[in-house]
Formats: sequence, structure tokens, C-alpha cells
Amino acid sequence: MKLSAIFLGLAAYVSLAIAQSQEWGQCGGIGWAGSTTCVSGTACTVINPYYSQCLPGTASTTPPVITPTTTPTTPPSTGPTSTVSIPPSPTGTNSNALARAAGKLYFGTATDNSELSDTAYVAILSDNTYFGQLSPANSMKWDATEPEQGVFTFTGGDQIVNQAKVHGQIMRGHNCVWYNQLPSWVSNGGFTAAQLTSIIQNHCGTLVGHYQGQIWDVVNEPFNDDGTWRSDVFYNTLGTSYVDIALQAARAADPGTKIYINDYNIEMTGAKATSMLNLIKNLKSRGIPVDGVGLQCHFIVGEVPTSLQSIMQQFTALGVEVAITELDIRMTLPATNALLAQQETDYKNVISACKAVSGCVGVTVWDYTDKYSWVPSTFSGQGEACPWDANLQKKPAYSGITAAWS
Ligand code: G3I
Repeated sequence: MKLSAIFLGLAAYVSLAIAQSQEWGQCGGIGWAGSTTCVSGTACTVINPYYSQCLPGTASTTPPVITPTTTPTTPPSTGPTSTVSIPPSPTGTNSNALARAAGKLYFGTATDNSELSDTAYVAILSDNTYFGQLSPANSMKWDATEPEQGVFTFTGGDQIVNQAKVHGQIMRGHNCVWYNQLPSWVSNGGFTAAQLTSIIQNHCGTLVGHYQGQIWDVVNEPFNDDGTWRSDVFYNTLGTSYVDIALQAARAADPGTKIYINDYNIEMTGAKATSMLNLIKNLKSRGIPVDGVGLQCHFIVGEVPTSLQSIMQQFTALGVEVAITELDIRMTLPATNALLAQQETDYKNVISACKAVSGCVGVTVWDYTDKYSWVPSTFSGQGEACPWDANLQKKPAYSGITAAWS
């Protein structure tokens, strides 16, 4: 009798220990049915309404609770949703007004925090007849938002969100999981698969939970140009499952967010586009949430792919929407009238392709002015990729954009 009592007690103790969530494991959140207690030495900490995690330390030393800007009321779901709120359509003949009149959600631009002190630049950025959407070029990336494990900084991203809110513009979040601009604590942490899973869940869940009700590039640039998976800490530790983990965490954190996978060189027929098409098919067949594919569209003057429209149609035929997320069309300098005229045609063709595909929701230029383009510092001798020049004057390319939307 005595022995069996000891055995029962031991069994109860063991099952309690097993029931507890491990360090970095989930321990709560809306829809969570697992354990709500943590192993010794860790404390269950609310990261957002959908995600609590066992973090090292005790309750008194855990990071502060992060309060989302709005409290979601809908439970998590795996189906596509559409609760990104769209501001009233501006009228007139400027780029966003025309995009809205053509039935799109926005014509938008990337911007960066350092640019927001340039008053002439901000005056155009703030005009929602030109831009109905903003993308943060850097301030929502991993190095900017979680520079140390579990320590989140939203200051830069919040500044861009506020800029957008005040001017009736929607936001694309950019991005949750990317091999680049990744702090070394992630890339060199030597984490196990279980640890990295929790890290991705926490990062994506917290970001998307903080920035509610927008569109998110959840996974960025998963493929190499030959269509093989990019070798990075996520793929090397978790295989392709890191994509599922990130998308599921984003959907759980805000069911109203549109969740995308975003990449470049998928705008033309070829191995990389095929891999992305296969990934979307695969995710859909397994019920993994994904709402859209972002085609970055960093093009070269005179080389806009003729298969752009057909590729977008192939994606939308799979039941996802598409967006042109980072459009610019660079040229070898110096610019000539002939190059600027070709660029006008190229912009017109890209916008026309989006206009012709009903599932293409909008177009974002990767900053509207050559003054702040990323191109010259990356491609030596090239530039002039944007529709406004470095003096904030419209180029022929802008006329190509408005002609296409009209
Ligand atoms: O913040 C530091 C600053 O402290 C430092 O003094 C300065 C010195 O170079 O660098 C600053 O960081 C730069 C950062 O932009 C912010 O300005 C980085 O060096 C620079 O590499 C980084 O470039 C960004 C690039 O992504 C990094 O990959 C560009 O601004 C950004 O436009 C670009 O955006 C990417 C998309 O996210 C994904 N698709 C391609 C696109 C173009 O590369």
C-alpha cells in the first residue's frame, strides 16, 4: 500500500512537471489550450492577448507587458479575413486617388524615420491623394524591433504608423522573418528547433499584436534566385516549417491582419516564381494561413518582365491576393531623356499589369523620391529609380503611373 501511494504521488508529480511549459514555450493567450504554468526559473509573461511565454526569471524580473494599440475581440482563426480598415477614397487626379478610382486599395510608398524631418519631403508624403499607404523601410525589421531577446522597441515603427494614421493612410508592416537585418542573438544563438520556434512565435506574435489591423510581410525573401530555399538560421534550424510557424503566429496575434510572403525576382516565369507558386499551393493544401504574395518589383529600365501580369494571375488563381510591394526601376547613370521616357513606359506597364489583375490590391514604390532611394548605394553607377527626382519634382515616370491608373 505504502509503495503504491508513493508511486501515485510520484506519477502525479511527473505529470505536473510534464504539463508545465518549458522555457520560451507558450503558456497562455486567447485560444491557447495547453499548460498555463511554467517550469521552475521561468515566469509566464503576457506578450500580447494571444501569446504568453515562459521567460527566464521570476514574475518581478520579466519584461513589461506589451499592450497592443487596440484590443482584438475576435478569436484567432485560420481562414483569410479582411478587417484592414480602408480610409475614404480621396478624389482628384493624383496617383492614389486614381488607384482608388481604379478599384485598388492604395498607391503607396516606403518611407524611413530619418526622412520624417525633411519638411518638403513630408509635405508630399502626407498628401493622401498621392499616397494611401506607407511601408517602413527599416523600422519594423527584427534588428530595430527586438535587438535583444524579449526586449521590444516600437518607437521607430510607431512614428511611421502615426504619420500614416494622421493622414488617412494604411500600413504594410515589413517584416517579421527575414535573413537580413537580423540581430546576431538570433543568427548566432545556436538555438534548438524548439527554442527558435518560440522565438519566431514571440517575435511575429508581438509585432503583429502591437501593430493591429494592417497588412504584414510576415515572411520576406525565403528563396534563392534558382528557386532553392535560402540557407539562413530559420531554414537551417527548422526547415521549411519556419514559414508555417511565422504565419500561424501572425494570424493568431491578429486575425484581422492580411499576412503575406514577399520576394523579388518572382515577377517573371522561372524557377523562383515556380517555387513561390508551389509554396502557396502547399500552404493552402495544409490549411496554413496565408493571404497574399508580395512581388517586390525592383526592376531595370527597359527590362520590366512581360510575364508580370500572367504571374500575378497564377498567384491569384491559387486563392491569394497579390501586391506590388517595393517598385522602383533603376537606370545606368547619367539619366537621358530617352532613359526617362523608357522609364515612363516601364512604370506605366507595371501599374497596368496590377490594374488588369483584380486580385492585385495595390502598388507601393520603394520610396517615392530619388533623394532617399536605396539604389545608388547598392548598385554602383545606377539610380534615378523613383517617380520623383532628388529635388522632389515629378519625373516622366509619374505620368506613366497616372496614365496607367486612369
Ligand atoms: O542605421 C544605420 C546607421 O546607424 C548607420 O550609421 C548607417 C551607416 O551605413 O547605416 C544605417 O543602417 C542602414 C539602414 O538601411 C538604415 O538606413 C544600413 O546600413 C543599410 O544597409 C540599410 O539598407 C536598407 C536595406 O533594406 C537593408 O537590406 C534600406 O534602407 C532598405 O530600403 C532596404 O529595403 C529592402 C527591403 O527591406 C527588402 N527588399 C529589398 C529592399 C531593398 O534592399
